[in-house]
Amino acid sequence: MDDYRKMYEKSVNPETAEAFWGEQATRFIDWIRPFDTVRMGGFEVGDHAWFVGGQMNVSSSCLDKHLPKLASKPAIVWEADEPGTCETLTYLDVLHGTCRIANALKVTGAAKGDFVTIYMPMMPDTAMAMLACTRIGAPHTVVFAGFTASSLRDRILDSQSKWVLTSDVGKRGSKTIKLKEITDAAVSQCPKVQKIFVFKRTGEEVPTNRDVDVHMDELLPKMRPYCPPTPVAAEDTLFTLYTSGSTGKPKGVAHAAAGYLLQAAMTCLYSFDLRETDVFACVADVGWITGHSYIVYGPLCNGATTVMFESVPTYPDPGRYWDLVDRHGVTVFYTAPTAIRALMAHGEAPVKKYSRASLRILGTVGEPINPEAWRWYYEVVGDKRCSIVDTYWQTETGGHVMTPLPGVTPMKPGSCCLPFFGVVPKVLDSQTGAELRETAVDGVLAFGQSWPGACRTVWGDHERYMNTYLLPYPPNYFTGDGCRRDEDGYFWIMGRIDDVLNTSGHRIGTAEVESALVAHQAVAQAATVGYPHDIKGQGICCYLELTKGYEESPELIKELKGAVRSAIGPFATPDLIIAVPLPKTRSGKIMRRILRKVAAGEESQLGDVTTLADPTVVDALITKVKKVQ
Ligand code: PRX
Repeated sequence: MDDYRKMYEKSVNPETAEAFWGEQATRFIDWIRPFDTVRMGGFEVGDHAWFVGGQMNVSSSCLDKHLPKLASKPAIVWEADEPGTCETLTYLDVLHGTCRIANALKVTGAAKGDFVTIYMPMMPDTAMAMLACTRIGAPHTVVFAGFTASSLRDRILDSQSKWVLTSDVGKRGSKTIKLKEITDAAVSQCPKVQKIFVFKRTGEEVPTNRDVDVHMDELLPKMRPYCPPTPVAAEDTLFTLYTSGSTGKPKGVAHAAAGYLLQAAMTCLYSFDLRETDVFACVADVGWITGHSYIVYGPLCNGATTVMFESVPTYPDPGRYWDLVDRHGVTVFYTAPTAIRALMAHGEAPVKKYSRASLRILGTVGEPINPEAWRWYYEVVGDKRCSIVDTYWQTETGGHVMTPLPGVTPMKPGSCCLPFFGVVPKVLDSQTGAELRETAVDGVLAFGQSWPGACRTVWGDHERYMNTYLLPYPPNYFTGDGCRRDEDGYFWIMGRIDDVLNTSGHRIGTAEVESALVAHQAVAQAATVGYPHDIKGQGICCYLELTKGYEESPELIKELKGAVRSAIGPFATPDLIIAVPLPKTRSGKIMRRILRKVAAGEESQLGDVTTLADPTVVDALITKVKKVQ
């Protein structure tokens, strides 16, 4: 901890920060031209910039940098949807694959600065396609391969992509997703798209349009397996990634090449204590920021072996993750609390069937982890011998901004602990914006100064960037999250501000209520929302999925209300408890917006529900809520 504190101090103190970050940037990035200035600008006007004057190439810092030493080291281990089907690509294989795709893009006409949309499944070609874009200095926009044609169209149009990369189909949990068909439907409304590059996943027959389609299985073997890296400026846009705001259309969050890469690589190294022998499995999808930073850029920049997992945790059975761990000797495993809770509902047997002896570190990301799930992860999955790293960050932050360091930071179940290097967390009063300086306080979470991985703009709409992040509490970056800092200075994320309830003048984190509920064995998953309540201001409505074998009954509902009451206090007693299948996105995130609207009786204003894994749950939800209310 002393070392952490010293390094942290160096990273944020204005007198030492430039030397600190200059050193880190030199350590992780191969500079083609050295930078002149470590940082410039700030959050005041949103012109913060890092490593100005420097030129580099992201793919060469992830691949060429490791050669020839790591040429035959596995870079990507692919675990396909079909259990037992896998493929290993060495660093040299990945460089060759990346360069072939880069050359294919170039001969077809793609050039530096052109946006490329990637709509592909979880296969090695996807990672190489991303790296190929960086090779030629073309920013990529990866669209999660579970999005619909209209969402894909909107992202292609917003980014003005001229080039789209896809595959014949995608596979997930034995289901086939017709990616080429969906791409055709999207592109038919995108007049600027010149070519669709089609990779083969299964090789099945798909619709073809010879004028537009480029068949990669025919073109790639003709391409030279080397392509010189195009130098890009440190601040050039590496990629945009669309993320939902609380209102309006998704924002294209834009990241800068050098700062982002440094954030991804450095957090990957420190948060996961990455070593040469590690096999790192981040089981997210590359279509989300977690996949960008911790499947592709972070691990590869560190010369690690990264696992790409195409399937879902319960296919063909709930032991799939642990089977993956044993077969590939995974040492660091990184997933979301949602997955942990889903697996918890199946009990310990599917975990205990596998040895998991290789595991060293277990990470979690994406939402607050309730202490119950944390303990299950620690005790059942990790056999009480693996560190748990609860990593807090956002699409906008590029990489972790608050996290324990494994083996260093004393853990507290449910807390993301302490800030990462360069990050200055501030707890603010949500009304006045005043910084709350006492140690133990509740407030909104903001960051006081730029860190290298902070997003630089919302693509094409800098005003929206300013309004969303930098102007609500100037001169800070506003996270949109509520948080608590405890007496030890540890941070606890309470969920999005709009997920914090105020009932009878009491502020209650929805996460707290949910944690109390899922601590009950009858509850597999819970989501709490506020709804207008005549007397209390906001009432507490809890939606939940019951553990297999439990039935909803008045007795059980009473018991659950009692569980929340005794865990938090009488003021937190839920007004409504409704057992119903929860509306989730394909990545497993609960769409609280829908739950809030339905609880508030605003089902006519649900907005876009196309990203739901199963849109039919919405009707079931509305019917059930009407019956209960
Ligand atoms: O509310 C926080 C929650 O996820 C939000 C960011 O979502 P997204 O941009 O989709 O990125 C997800 C992957 C980084 C945050 O504003 N969140 C993320 N990690 C945690 C978390 N909440 C609590 N604890 C975390 N570890």
